[in-house]
Amino acid sequence: MSSSSKKVVVTGGAGFIGSHLVEELVNRGYDVFVYDNFSRGRRENLKNVEDKITIVNGDILEFDLLKDVIKDSQYVFHEVAVCANYCNAFPDASVSCNLQGTLNVIKASLEATVEKVMFSSSATVYGIPIYQPIDEQHPLNPITLYSISKLASEYYFRFFSQSGLKYIIFRNFTVYGIRQTSDEYYKPVIVEFFKKLLTRTKPVLFGDGSQSIDFVHVFDVVQANILGMESDIYNEVFNVGSQTSLSIKELLNLLKDITGIDIQPEYRKAQNIVQQRIANISKIREMLGYNPTVHIKDGIKDEVNYLSKRF
Ligand SMILES: NC(=O)c1ccc[n+]([C@@H]2O[C@H](COP(=O)([O-])OP(=O)(O)OC[C@H]3O[C@@H](n4cnc5c(N)ncnc54)[C@H](O)[C@@H]3O)[C@@H](O)[C@H]2O)c1
Repeated sequence: MSSSSKKVVVTGGAGFIGSHLVEELVNRGYDVFVYDNFSRGRRENLKNVEDKITIVNGDILEFDLLKDVIKDSQYVFHEVAVCANYCNAFPDASVSCNLQGTLNVIKASLEATVEKVMFSSSATVYGIPIYQPIDEQHPLNPITLYSISKLASEYYFRFFSQSGLKYIIFRNFTVYGIRQTSDEYYKPVIVEFFKKLLTRTKPVLFGDGSQSIDFVHVFDVVQANILGMESDIYNEVFNVGSQTSLSIKELLNLLKDITGIDIQPEYRKAQNIVQQRIANISKIREMLGYNPTVHIKDGIKDEVNYLSKRF
């Protein structure tokens, strides 16, 4: 069957990662359905492809509607979730949206005999790292409601593989790129620092700002997902990162260079935060041929361009 006759559903397809995935799937000729309740997602994110896709405004908890959309599809990408701070503020949502939502996707996919489901999990399932870089064998120790809901979802996929479900789990590290938005609950550090620089307000660094992060560009997350979908591999878990690290202080300096705005940060006592989380990406490189392509400097320049137009 050619890709043009293959139906693909992207839950959360109007969001940050989902909308990039939708664009790439359309470019590859798939018949794409977006399922999103637009709580965080935006139609504007889909403006490049809206005449080529079907958009369904639905909640992940509306099982009959979801089932109807997933019916006859070959692949499903499950991107719907609420973030860590939202889970802290509304613990029920970690169970309803994140876990029950995932179970709904699994049940609907089994009924539709979908070929494979790709699930966006998170590197936070590892908890506080005990070694670096973190491979998929690293002990699992989720310490937030969000990461507990992600790990529980992973186990649901594993359980239902006994009923014939085929899946791939992607443990995303820190994803960045255009269309990333911040709100009351989700404050990506690049967007927050940019806003501070723009308003000439001191950005806050905790400790000495040496906490380092594995930033992976959204295009590379899309690359991983497409490789997973199109491969013969299933029922595997993969880290998705860049296996490079950038400290918070280096990030701020990079943003200062790109924007030409020089503001000294305010240093505050370090809180209980993960000092470093770097992905070991050997497994996904070897099994799926994944290779991160976007250099952090280029990715951040693009994001700054995008943010400059928005703020
Ligand atoms: N962005 C990251 O750094 C990162 C890191 C690790 C894992 N992830 C995971 O990747 C996935 C996508 O993340 P993102 O950054 O694109 O988030 P996002 O918030 O931009 O996208 C999520 C989408 O789901 C939709 N949605 C939320 N609740 C819904 C519901 N009840 N019913 C239907 N739609 C609903 C939102 O409107 C939004 O469009 C999520 O599962 C997230 O947990 C993201």
